[in-house]
Amino acid sequence: MHHFHQLKATKVSRETNDCVHIAFEIPENLKHEFSFKQGQYLNVRFVFGEDDLRRSYSIINAPSEENPELEILVKHLDQGKVSTYLNRELKVGDSVEVMAPSGHFYTHYHISNQKTYIGLAAGSGISPVLSNIKEALYQEPQSSAYLFFSNKSFTDIIFKKEIDDLVEKFEGRLKVIFLLSREKHFEDELFEGRISAEKLDLLFQRFTDIPVQDSTYFICGPSEMIKGISDYLKKEKKVPSLQIMYEYYAAPDEEGNAEMSDEFKAIPNLESMVTLIIDDDEYSFHLNSKKKSILDQALAEKLPVPFACKGGVCCTCKAQVMEGEVFMEKNFALTDDEVERGFVLTCQCHPTTNVVMLNYDV
Ligand code: FES
Repeated sequence: MHHFHQLKATKVSRETNDCVHIAFEIPENLKHEFSFKQGQYLNVRFVFGEDDLRRSYSIINAPSEENPELEILVKHLDQGKVSTYLNRELKVGDSVEVMAPSGHFYTHYHISNQKTYIGLAAGSGISPVLSNIKEALYQEPQSSAYLFFSNKSFTDIIFKKEIDDLVEKFEGRLKVIFLLSREKHFEDELFEGRISAEKLDLLFQRFTDIPVQDSTYFICGPSEMIKGISDYLKKEKKVPSLQIMYEYYAAPDEEGNAEMSDEFKAIPNLESMVTLIIDDDEYSFHLNSKKKSILDQALAEKLPVPFACKGGVCCTCKAQVMEGEVFMEKNFALTDDEVERGFVLTCQCHPTTNVVMLNYDV
């Protein structure tokens, strides 16, 4: 269930100066395991010397598209070993360790719906937003979509050609508004700068046909953008929370070190017996509640636990509490409903009872 598979890269092409577009071939025997929903992501794994590095990259495709391959976009980060390898070294024909798709940045579509979807994306945050917008347009012939997409400059616009093609294909149903944050390219300053609550307010005033309160939103970009826009939509525009979906690709900086939070200081200092169920096997170890996270201790014990970001963002380390209680430091991935049902991010969890059992197989 949490295994990595060797997938062959069938396309490695430069999308912009700092982004590479990669497609993986899915062998016939893995087609079922790699079926996916719009907005989901792939975890990839690289072992460089002692480092076992995992990263999550959103799938660009929509399930309704006729494409037998799975595609991702990887932005190069200066200090990023994995993104540097994928941008500079990977070649067509190379194999990469990839885990089956996961994530829940999506909504359910139905052929009879007549809705408006609004994508708000910055830079490489476009991948899961585009996947959702495409699926909505394919599955709901009476629905329409707007995409507000900001990039640094005109030449940095990711998937420009694909987006232009989609506008043509779904004539009248997809409107795209590009914004440029570091270049004066448009005559109207409204389209300069980043997407922010203030900017969105002005854009909504300009595009008065958008049913702001009744639309469904997909937001992906820097954390401050996500927080600012989602707060604005909820508080100022009274958009119900269920209509606002967002995907972080990094933990918000301002959250700081949650281990220093008053909540963390208040948890009891105790020794716990932690049992993990992973792929039908049970593993147990002792852990002090104030020390490592459950995931970190499991990794120290060399257990086959799934993980990627270790920052409470990607959801790969999700498990359900079967016995006992835990304290979760951060959560940017689980829905309120999942938390109520006892799901936790084990990279963020510390035991708060003497016995804890978590199940990764649910
Ligand atoms: S490893 Fe990403 S949320 Fe825990």
